[in-house]
Amino acid sequence: MTTNIPLLSLKAQHERLAPELRQAVVRVVDSGIFILGPEVKQFEAEFAAALRACGIGGSAGAGRTDFLTTGAPHAVGVSNGTDALRVALEAVGVGPGDEVLVPSFTFIATATAVSALGASPVFVDIDPVTMTMNPAAAAAAAGPKTKAMVPVHLFGYPADMDELLALAAEKDLRVVEDCAQAHLTTYKGRTVGTIGDAGAFSFYPSKNMGAAGDAGAVTVSDPELAEAVRQLRNCGRETGGPAYRHVRVGQNCRLDELQAAVLRVKLKYLPEWTAKRRAVALRYSQNLQGLPVFLPDPGRSGTNHTFHLFVIRCDRRDELARHLTEKGIGNGVYYPIPVHRQPAYMEVRIRPTALPHTEEACRTALALPMFPELELGAVDAVCQAIKDFFKHP
Ligand SMILES: Cc1ncc(COP(=O)(O)O)c(C=O)c1O
Repeated sequence: MTTNIPLLSLKAQHERLAPELRQAVVRVVDSGIFILGPEVKQFEAEFAAALRACGIGGSAGAGRTDFLTTGAPHAVGVSNGTDALRVALEAVGVGPGDEVLVPSFTFIATATAVSALGASPVFVDIDPVTMTMNPAAAAAAAGPKTKAMVPVHLFGYPADMDELLALAAEKDLRVVEDCAQAHLTTYKGRTVGTIGDAGAFSFYPSKNMGAAGDAGAVTVSDPELAEAVRQLRNCGRETGGPAYRHVRVGQNCRLDELQAAVLRVKLKYLPEWTAKRRAVALRYSQNLQGLPVFLPDPGRSGTNHTFHLFVIRCDRRDELARHLTEKGIGNGVYYPIPVHRQPAYMEVRIRPTALPHTEEACRTALALPMFPELELGAVDAVCQAIKDFFKHP
């Protein structure tokens, strides 16, 4: 019997939100303001507040108060997650000739944002359990030209920020967190995007909170850095400054009013969606115990995975993927080719040369259906199909 369980569906979410989304779009159209107006301003304030509420003292916080002095993050809306990374890296001082530590097991934008600034990505292996940047490998890869690092909170799981921040402090490196897949993920009572010097978010439609098109945001705590980001996203203009005076060589990578209005609708539901993702993940983990698959680490003490994707690892990954597809069950390989093996990066000098855990993850990782509206009965059906696969090799 075949079922039809997609890897991701936005249908139920959009059916539920359609009246609110239509109202938001009409509000913007009627206002006649499409660029850097009230919707962007409100969204930036609301997104920053959501990150604060989720961390210390918030529902996902671990009750710690020792980070209260870290200050409130500023959120600056930009055109997409790739631009968020590029602008954040430029604002913290990355430029031509610099090296930046990045994982290779990630979406390519983590590295191309570095390359776009004339800097070089230096690829670092992952931790085999968490699949995020390995601090020891990062320490080994840091050299005299290293200016910054970009830990990726991959699939919604927080990178090992304590160890990475300690390395950054020792080597005087800036830290830009790639939070594209980790909206509201927390790490020891702090929300990702508020831990390093800057955070870069994507609101690509399939992300945990997606726009109706491309959108992104940069988060920073330092007000001067926030102004640098605002200038860099808006052709180098000072906030509140005269229209045709430019203090930096910035680009146009603004978030637009329509996307901000859509995101304001969705942001209200993000905590609820996140809880539902965790319930789906829990059900998978309970059902798949004892099978020859490696399950995602649910999170160390004080950390909260937000399960952008539910990724298992399996030696017979390609066979299992084919079996699920035949049964009508969506699945996906994130990522089949590590960034350092992409044709685009073939010319780049790779240091260190061996990234064994990255290669292993690319060979074995398989994403199962995951979205907030996925019913637990459907999760059970996916798990049954996986059990059947292992019963009849
Ligand atoms: C880890 C990671 N970094 C960066 C990006 C880039 O975001 P965007 O597609 O919005 O440019 C993505 C999104 O696909 C991503 O998954």
